[in-house]
Amino acid sequence: MLLSTSSKKVATPKAEKTQSKNASDSKETSFYEKLDELLVHDNAPDVKLVNKGQYKDAFDLLEDAEACQLTPMLIGPPGVGKTLLARTFASSRGRDFEWITMDEATKPSHFVGAFDPGETLKRGFVKEAFMPGALTKMMVLGGLFLANELNRATEFTQNTFLEPLEERSIMLPRLGRVKAKDSFFLICAANPGDMAGTHRLSEALRDRIKVWINLDYPSRAVELEIIHANIPQCKLSKDYMDLTYELIEATRKSREVERPASIRSGIAIAKITALQENRAGAAFGIADFKKIAKMVLVGGIKARPGYEPESIIAKIVSSVVKG
Ligand SMILES: Nc1ncnc2c1ncn2[C@@H]1O[C@H](COP(=O)(O)OP(=O)(O)OP(=O)(O)O)[C@@H](O)[C@H]1O
Ligand SMILES: [Mg+2]
Repeated sequence: MLLSTSSKKVATPKAEKTQSKNASDSKETSFYEKLDELLVHDNAPDVKLVNKGQYKDAFDLLEDAEACQLTPMLIGPPGVGKTLLARTFASSRGRDFEWITMDEATKPSHFVGAFDPGETLKRGFVKEAFMPGALTKMMVLGGLFLANELNRATEFTQNTFLEPLEERSIMLPRLGRVKAKDSFFLICAANPGDMAGTHRLSEALRDRIKVWINLDYPSRAVELEIIHANIPQCKLSKDYMDLTYELIEATRKSREVERPASIRSGIAIAKITALQENRAGAAFGIADFKKIAKMVLVGGIKARPGYEPESIIAKIVSSVVKG
């Protein structure tokens, strides 16, 4: 093949280098510009809490616990609204707020803090070289801290909360003991202890938590309102809304189901149904709704040992959705 000798400028290696540097610069610039735009500067949740029924009672109890400087624990199955409630409560206080969701790998240094190796090499173990974790920050600033899914952490990690709970203080390595500002408020949340992946809450911790707030699946009226609140831009006809709730409820009553469908599953079914119904109009039918329900529920429930999720779902869908 002949090389073209047209007037096209042949890029010199230097020019190529400059071009590719500019291209990568502009990519970097646009990434950092976008990042600045998207950085979240407050911790308020996007979803508005439906503060009715059990949520209103729980919200009031959080207020009482805070007034008495007692640490509350929100307990309930997945997706029942524990995190949303705690975040809504925190943002209603107008103070600093941080949270951390725990698991097996969470170590105390993740929320207490640690010395920055580079700074420590330069300056030694001075307070300026200490990078405070979220818990330490909230204790010092008098904000709120949510220890989310606390019973997924190991007992070793859970026990780091004993001192903040009992004494409202924390021991920072090499710096000493710090007393929390008066307005510091710790909220804990966890799934019930018998769920897979959870540890027992340490006995020592249990004994120091005095406000136990149980959240369960909400009443029909409140759950329907929650589904509405979570699909604000979509319109779903009442019949499909009712069917969505009845399906979710049936998974909660089934003896073959170990972990039933959460509020999240109801929201997902309602969202996709609304989208497809609005797009297809009269062509959207009950068979389409069944397909959506099966697709969402297959990952949304956990069957008891010895049962197949697909066959449980097929049974539930055909008993609830006629036609
Ligand atoms: N009272 C409510 N008002 C509005 N939306 C709610 C409410 N309760 C639950 N939701 C919806 O359900 C979703 C799940 O809630 P959330 O994440 O708070 O549950 P959770 O109990 O913390 O679950 P997990 O145990 O899995 O962490 C929320 O993001 C929200 O969309
Ligand atoms: Mg949660």
